Amino acid sequence: METHILVTGAPGNVGTEVVHELQRIGVPFRVGVHNVKTASERLGNNLEITHFDFLKPETYSATFKGIERMFLVRPPALSNVQRDIAPAIEAAVKAGVKQIVFLSIQGVENNRVVPHYKIEQLLLGSGVNYTFLRASFFMQNLSTTHRNEIHDHDEIALPVSHARTSFIDARDIAAVAAWVLTEAGHTNQKYTLTGAEALDYDQVASKLSATLHRTIRYTHPSIITFIRRQLALGQKLSYTLIMTALYTITRFGNAKTVTQDVERLLGRPPIGFDQFAEDYRNSWQPDAALDIAPEMQPSLRRATSTLDK
Ligand SMILES: NC(=O)c1ccc[n+]([C@@H]2O[C@H](COP(=O)([O-])OP(=O)(O)OC[C@H]3O[C@@H](n4cnc5c(N)ncnc54)[C@H](OP(=O)(O)O)[C@@H]3O)[C@@H](O)[C@H]2O)c1
Repeated sequence: METHILVTGAPGNVGTEVVHELQRIGVPFRVGVHNVKTASERLGNNLEITHFDFLKPETYSATFKGIERMFLVRPPALSNVQRDIAPAIEAAVKAGVKQIVFLSIQGVENNRVVPHYKIEQLLLGSGVNYTFLRASFFMQNLSTTHRNEIHDHDEIALPVSHARTSFIDARDIAAVAAWVLTEAGHTNQKYTLTGAEALDYDQVASKLSATLHRTIRYTHPSIITFIRRQLALGQKLSYTLIMTALYTITRFGNAKTVTQDVERLLGRPPIGFDQFAEDYRNSWQPDAALDIAPEMQPSLRRATSTLDK
């Protein structure tokens, strides 16, 4: 069978899971990766892997050759859409890609400053068939971005007060992505992907405590204290400011909307937070980091940069 599907964003959180889903379904696909050696180590060698770099136009032709549908992830480090993302989209469309499934964010339609808004506009203007997967906050932020605080200090410290978030498991986003890439009827659609409930961080801390059999505390520092703390932890100022902006939006109640799109598309309820905590429990266990199954923790080794939208 010929390969008509391209996956980007692997071996990242969602891209890795899309690879697993497509393998499970059994359709041929190509993975366009930033670093071939790392990707082969993490994803395995029995895949069609090609070097793809948004910033290197010389990688476009081999990446897009023969591709009709693609899963597009904006790497968190690339924020200048016109300079960093647009050339690859243009090349993909020119090469004959007919459908682009884009990992976007919940509420993007009301948030013109995020890169995802500009990417959606680019896709709408390009004439390509689009499928927007507007995802809420990943549960996996707790096993990547916030993992060290929980693992080392039994603490989640975020400036969101008691606001709720409709967390989604990255595996559900991937399952939807694989579905819309392989089934007809999803072109020019906008799906908002959330979990089945919205939790506040007191509930998250208490669920993690129950799973880990130790007390995880949720502290809610002021925004200024949060920024100072992130900088003291060595985070870059730009990254800290984006994270703060996202959590400020959450604090004002804008991350709590729950939709039925995952269940409607997959025919099953979204993965619940308790299941996520159980599946990823080794992320937060003392001295257990090296035991984590690679397929469960694609980006634990890069435990800092997941949350940036
Ligand atoms: N976290 C959330 O709660 C959330 C919610 C909604 C939407 N999102 C959005 O989801 C996206 C991130 O998804 P994710 O967490 O699955 O990603 P991720 O784990 O950060 O992985 C990003 C992937 O992009 C690759 N990459 C980096 N630079 C590249 C380049 N120049 N060319 C090609 N590939 C490159 C990385 O490869 P290397 O590792 O080899 O560099 C990695 O495989 C972001 O756009 C984010 O805003 C996040």
